[in-house]
Amino acid sequence: MSRSVLFVASEGLPFIKTGGLADVIGSLPKALAKRGHDVRVVLPLYKKIIEKYYDDLERLGTVEVHSGWIDQPATFYSAKVDNVVYYFIEHQAYFERDGLYGYEDDGERFAFFSRAVLDMIYFIDWWPNVIHSNDWQTGMIPLLAHACYSDDYRYQNIKHVYTIHNMAFQGNFGVDMLPSCLGLDYYYFDTGAIKFDSGISFMKAGIVYADKITTVSPTYAQEILTESYGERMDSILRYRKYDLWGIINGIDIDEWNPKTDKHLAKNYDVRSYVSGKRANKEALQKELGLEVRDDVAMIGIVSRLTNQKGVYMITDKINEIMAMDIQLVILGTGESAAEDSFKWMEDAYKGRAVYYCGYNEELAHRIYAGSDLFLMPSLYEPCGIGQLIALRYGTLPLVRETGGLKDTVNPYNKYTGEGNGFSFWAANASDMVYTLNYAIDQYYNNKPGWKGLIKTAMTEDLSWDKSAATYEQLYYEICNWAD
Ligand code: ADP
Ligand code: GLC
Repeated sequence: MSRSVLFVASEGLPFIKTGGLADVIGSLPKALAKRGHDVRVVLPLYKKIIEKYYDDLERLGTVEVHSGWIDQPATFYSAKVDNVVYYFIEHQAYFERDGLYGYEDDGERFAFFSRAVLDMIYFIDWWPNVIHSNDWQTGMIPLLAHACYSDDYRYQNIKHVYTIHNMAFQGNFGVDMLPSCLGLDYYYFDTGAIKFDSGISFMKAGIVYADKITTVSPTYAQEILTESYGERMDSILRYRKYDLWGIINGIDIDEWNPKTDKHLAKNYDVRSYVSGKRANKEALQKELGLEVRDDVAMIGIVSRLTNQKGVYMITDKINEIMAMDIQLVILGTGESAAEDSFKWMEDAYKGRAVYYCGYNEELAHRIYAGSDLFLMPSLYEPCGIGQLIALRYGTLPLVRETGGLKDTVNPYNKYTGEGNGFSFWAANASDMVYTLNYAIDQYYNNKPGWKGLIKTAMTEDLSWDKSAATYEQLYYEICNWAD
């Protein structure tokens, strides 16, 4: 039965991206729409979206949003992409800034956004069966709907799904925000419902008030119930564990397709990957000023450079890694300690290692295509999109066995030929180097094994098909929909 779902998020492709959340918001709604549902997405109207897409947007109208002590106008816009309607919420002072997050008033900005989303539903008079919120920025929505909008039965009828993409970003703020920005009573703090330390938590509100909670891989769903991965929310998650589902992310296999990718020097598929990857490696070496050698093992990294991603295991062992017969290409921005180490590395290993400090979508495509190995030794990883793209491009992921990395990368077994990559378990740099040495040895000395791995990697089903069906099942369950 066709139903309606409103996805609410703080970023989403094709309009705006800083990480994997945008990949998910750009592809899961599309996959659900393909299954016949009316799926729409709402995002803040950031400066970068205005600069690139303003002329494509239709202005719908303005309402006064009662966000706590002040009433402020929100203007709504819309656009349609691939059968999915996107809405945008405009508030100049909050969203027309250079970056997306990391501002002192982030709590205030996303409190406003959350209330404006609920007001928008009334304004456009479209009443979805499900509101599907994502990450801390939208965690307040299930609570706000319950506390401030439930006089209207149409809001009461809406069910709420809350997806955790990363437990580490929780949106924890002072308690004064309750009346001042959210228009909520202190009751929600006093009863402990959304209390966290001495303040309140947007993420906790999502966990407590949504009908169902999901996270982006089965293993991470288990991990966050433990003290080691729960980021101090494990007890509240354990309390709701029967409503917590772990559903693995897919990728947009049309967007990430080495056969049609416009950014590549040469397109290829599973039959033509040998010449295809060779041409892409050569082009990448020329583009980045590396020594041109088609036989060398090329290791690629495309990542936020933060502790989560295990980057300090790499910086600690950079000399040992570079002692191998390899080339290394790193694309990413993040913590200055990591950036500085990689800048040093580039100087120390000229012609063999390159660090591109920045965000570059096109270069990312070329690194996925031109590399032989994709290194992603994350300390924790809710799902990970990078390793999925790498698989699709026949670039074997080398990962730590955690979260979605564990669920999607099957380590090579040289005796049976099984596997689609390489992995190690302990969060220990020596184990990473050991596994890297092993992988490089396979690359140079076990050509048939390597070929088998690439074939398996490139023929994996990385699409949303299976997971979109699981989300649909989840929606059915909370809405009591019959087929
Ligand atoms: P996270 O969302 O935790 O950063 P994911 O692996 O889920 O990690 O998703 C990261 C996404 O962002 C991938 O699509 C990756 O290709 C992309 N990405 C990360 N850093 C960069 C960068 N510097 N330039 C281009 N794309 C990047
Ligand atoms: C977060 C996680 C990442 C996941 C992405 C999309 O950014 O860190 O593991 O792939 O969200 O769900």
